[in-house]
Amino acid sequence: MKNEYENYQESSRNYDKTRVPVGVEILLECFASTPRLLQEQTILDAGCGTGIYIEALKGKVGRLYGLELNEGMLERARKKFKNEPTIWLHLGSILELPYERDTLDAMMCNQVLHHLGTEKSAQENFPQVRRLLVEAYRVLRPQGVLVISTSSHPQLHDGFWWADLIPAAVNRMSARFPTLKHLASMLEEAGFSFVGNIVPLDSVLQGEHYLDPEGPLNKSYRDGDSTWSLATKEELEQAFERLRKMNQDGIISNYLESRERLRHKIGQTTFVFARKQRETGLLHTCG
Ligand SMILES: C[S@@+](CC[C@H](N)C(=O)[O-])C[C@H]1O[C@@H](n2cnc3c(N)ncnc32)[C@H](O)[C@@H]1O
Repeated sequence: MKNEYENYQESSRNYDKTRVPVGVEILLECFASTPRLLQEQTILDAGCGTGIYIEALKGKVGRLYGLELNEGMLERARKKFKNEPTIWLHLGSILELPYERDTLDAMMCNQVLHHLGTEKSAQENFPQVRRLLVEAYRVLRPQGVLVISTSSHPQLHDGFWWADLIPAAVNRMSARFPTLKHLASMLEEAGFSFVGNIVPLDSVLQGEHYLDPEGPLNKSYRDGDSTWSLATKEELEQAFERLRKMNQDGIISNYLESRERLRHKIGQTTFVFARKQRETGLLHTCG
């Protein structure tokens, strides 16, 4: 099955080489704030991909469900967890959750929102994101939590060093991401209490390969982030040429350092934390 712009059937082959589960401790802290003990909880990973978050949470919570639209990604997850009685994986869309009302303690949705919809989604007020939030509200137990990891628009531009090489693609990608403010208001509209935004400043989605100065020249590196799939052939060629030149001229280290200074200030991702009840407390917030 081909996603609208990223071919996950193909990139599922390289996905695990280029991604690490950032923010697992943040997720656990949010899940622990629900009434039941972690070991008794049933938690859904909505858009679980190859299951990198399920792997990281395995044994730390009661039961994990994974729902994924792409067969290639799900197949990778199935291979990892075939003998795990507490992990249940399903093929399907997170826009129609195949679970009963009030049955899940928590739900996480990591790096999926921008795949719901198109570049016109903002003009249409993100109908698919709103649909997901209504579904999440339905299946969560009262006081259950929803944690969405996504990126703010500043993070998309300056949280990833290579984003500066493909600015037009990053602009196209940004149009698919609701702003954090908009997301908070959509959560409230769906009935959730927005609790706060949490930003892990010290980790990167791509793990140890992130700062490879020639990384973007390789398809396997680019497969780790769908922004690359929004670059035109010409934009890609320009980016490669600029990168090769910086490597040849010996200025790539300075360039990476200056890009990293920005990332250290704003991070790459934001965990948006909401609860199925009204409340007032706010955690650390980010613009
Ligand atoms: C960037 S990957 C993130 C995967 C995983 N959550 C992670 O953090 O590694 C986005 C995933 O969302 C999945 N996806 C996109 N739209 C979906 C939908 N409507 N229902 C279920 N999964 C979806 C894609 O197939 C892909 O596996």
